[in-house]
Order: sequence, then C-alpha cells, then structure tokens
Amino acid sequence: MSHDAIILGAGAAGLFCGATAAQRGRRVVVLDHAEKPGKKILISGGGRCNFTNLHTAPDRYLSENRHFARSALSRYTPADFLELVERHGIAWHEKTLGQLFCDGSARQIVAMLLDECMRGGVEVICESPIAEVGHADGRFRVRAGGRTYQAPALVIATGGPAIPQIGASGIAYDLARQFGLKVVQPRPALVPLTLPDEAVLFRELSGVAAPVEARCGKGRFREAALFTHRGLSGPAILQVSSYWSRGQAVTIDFLPDRASGWLLEAKRARPRAGLRSVLGEALPDRLATALAGQLGLGAEMGNLPDKALRAAEERLGAWDFMPNGSEGFAKAEVTAGGISTADLSSQTMEARKVPGLYAIGEAVDVTGWLGGYNFQWAWASGHAAGQAI
Ligand code: FDA
Repeated sequence: MSHDAIILGAGAAGLFCGATAAQRGRRVVVLDHAEKPGKKILISGGGRCNFTNLHTAPDRYLSENRHFARSALSRYTPADFLELVERHGIAWHEKTLGQLFCDGSARQIVAMLLDECMRGGVEVICESPIAEVGHADGRFRVRAGGRTYQAPALVIATGGPAIPQIGASGIAYDLARQFGLKVVQPRPALVPLTLPDEAVLFRELSGVAAPVEARCGKGRFREAALFTHRGLSGPAILQVSSYWSRGQAVTIDFLPDRASGWLLEAKRARPRAGLRSVLGEALPDRLATALAGQLGLGAEMGNLPDKALRAAEERLGAWDFMPNGSEGFAKAEVTAGGISTADLSSQTMEARKVPGLYAIGEAVDVTGWLGGYNFQWAWASGHAAGQAI
C-alpha cells in the first residue's frame, strides 16, 4: 500500500502529526501495536489529561541541546492547542502553575485527535505490530500486521519505554540505530526515588506530604514532596528526578517559606516550647516529630544555644537525601534521553543524514518538566514534522 507518509505510533505526537499532514493533503497511515490509540493520553493527568502548560518555554525542557526545542515550541504554542480544544467544545480549567486539564476526561482529547485525523482521511491502524522497516530507492517499507506499507516519509513516534505495562517500548531507539542516528542513553524521569535502608526513619513517614523546595543539579522546584514506603515522591521529587543521577544527593528545604532566624525568633517567643512543637507550626506533625528527633535537640527552646538553633535551621533548609535508585521505567512518567537532537533538524524533525525520516515526541531527547510540558512537546514536534512531510 502506497502513502505519502507512514507514522509509527498512534500516541499524542503521532496522531497530531498525522492530522496536521493529512489536512495539508498528504495520504497518511498511522500504525500502532496497541489495541487502541492514545493509551498514555487516557491515563494521563489522573484521567483528565494535563494537555498543556501556559508557561511553556524551552528552559523547561531537558536535552543535550537545550536550544533544540525552541523552534517547534514557538511555532505551535499552548494557545494554538487551546484554540483546538475549545473548537472541539472541550471544557478545561487551570489547576495550578499554568497546568491545563480537561474538566471531563482525557478520552475527549483522544476523540479530538481522532476526529482531526478523520477530517484529513488518516488511516489509523491498531493491533499492527511492526515486523520490519526497510529503506531503498528513497522509499521506506514497513511490514506490520501482515501488510506492507510504502512511503517516501517515515515518522518515528513510538515514544519511550516508560510504563511498558501499557505497551510502551524502546523500538524508537532500535529504528534510530538502524538508520545511523545516535541515541542519548534513555533513563526514567519524572519518577519516584528510592532511599537506602539507613533512611528507615523517613520510611516510617510513608504517606506524609509537605510543601518543600527540592534541589538537584540545575533543578530547583517548590512543590509538594511525599514520603513513600520506598523513598520519596510527590511533584517536587518527580521534577528533580529528571536532573538526578546515581551518586548525587537530592537536597530538600523543609522550610522554604520561613525567613532566616525563624528558630531564634521562636526561642524568644516560646521559650518553654520544644523544637518539635515549633516545627509543628510549619510542617505536618509526623514530619515535625521525625525531624526534631533526627536533630536531637530535646530540651525546651529557651535552653537551646543560639548556635545549635542556627545549625538546626541550616540543616532543615538543606537536608540531603542520597537516593540509591529510582522506581524505574515501570513507574516513570517519561523517558529522558532518546534520539539525539544532533542528528535532527529543529525546524522539521527530519534526520539530517536520512532524508524522509523524522522523529517526534518522547522518542527524541527532549524531556519536559511535570505539568503538561511533555504533551506540548508532542503537539509542537508533531506539528513541525506534519508541516514538513
Ligand atoms: P506515546 O507514548 O503517547 O505514544 C507512543 C505510541 O507508540 C503508543 O500508542 C504505543 O502503543 C506505540 N508503540 C510503542 N511501541 C511500539 C511498537 N513496538 N510498535 C508499534 N507501536 C508502538 N504528560 C503531560 O504533558 N501531561 C500529563 O498529564 C501527563 N501524564 C502522564 C501520566 C502517566 C501515567 C504517564 C506514563 C505519562 C504522562 N505524561 C503526561 C507524559 C505523556 O504521556 C508523554 O510524554 C506523551 O504521551 C508522549 O507522546 P508520544 O506520542 O511521543 O508517545
């Protein structure tokens, strides 16, 4: 069967790219091994799909080339996607920090993408495992689901291996290598971190959440952290996990809203109180108890030396945790790394060395922060390729 473009992967990027190209008159087929399209969209944002972020900017993406995402993101913006969402009558709301969610269900976003595909006449073929991809005489040939497809353009939109339980795979990297493109070592990102046994005290806090500032490398995020029975999670930790690598500490400021000298002031104001109860003003009780215990300052505030209180405040503002790993691809929201941007055009997503070959979405070494940034990259990179094929 002959088409203008074959898109591998009926996820966010693949469907959007297909609709964009088809509405420009291209004959497009989208192939996927899953039983239905857009499975990650369906489970995203707790079932409500955080489909974009109003604060989208290139510095909110990790990549070996931090400028790569700029062009595509500026040519297809959150306002563009929002306009499409509204045209389809999908009600939405801003939750926090510029994050836009459906009022109803993520199913509406998948239905919208399929509707846009239908308008352009895209063939979306599911349950079609990719058996072989070849390239000769300027044409790509794909054997999938017992049929052979041919086209002068091939788009890799198969995402990354995060959440393999729903059919995610690393086929994008195999295909990239087959065509001589480099792959930046893929790793789980936006993922809970695990702590070693010594940190058992904090394990006892499983279920406790607190607003903190978490830092790791160049990442610095003021959101909630959550203690789990295996380690650390919550938005602040998921965010810094993308910047974390083995052997690095994650530093938590437990008192991001308290001015320096707060404990000394508390000593003057409440000399009979214990540190635990003072910390309890700013933190959940169980966390205040655990931290006060770790600091080992049992006496009444009035009897604690200023020096000890200054040291305690410093420690509470920069508490180092040494994760021994992460919960891996099984629990990661995205994959960092992927097809190297060095081998792709930032204008069109086309491989420099292989005319007609494109890579978009999570398969590429561009990883957004938590909060709708990854879908915005899927739309923007899908749009860039869809305009070019
Ligand atoms: P995507 O994974 O969407 O699509 C890839 C497609 O390729 C899939 O349909 C898959 O079946 C197919 N495929 C894979 N291997 C194949 C093979 N071997 N053969 C054939 N087909 C194959 N982001 C965000 O911005 N806001 C949010 O709210 C969330 N929430 C969220 C929750 C959870 C639980 C997860 C796991 C992820 C998120 N994300 C998110 C991240 C977001 O889902 C992700 O970045 C995008 O779906 C990436 O879009 P892609 O189209 O690149 O890949």
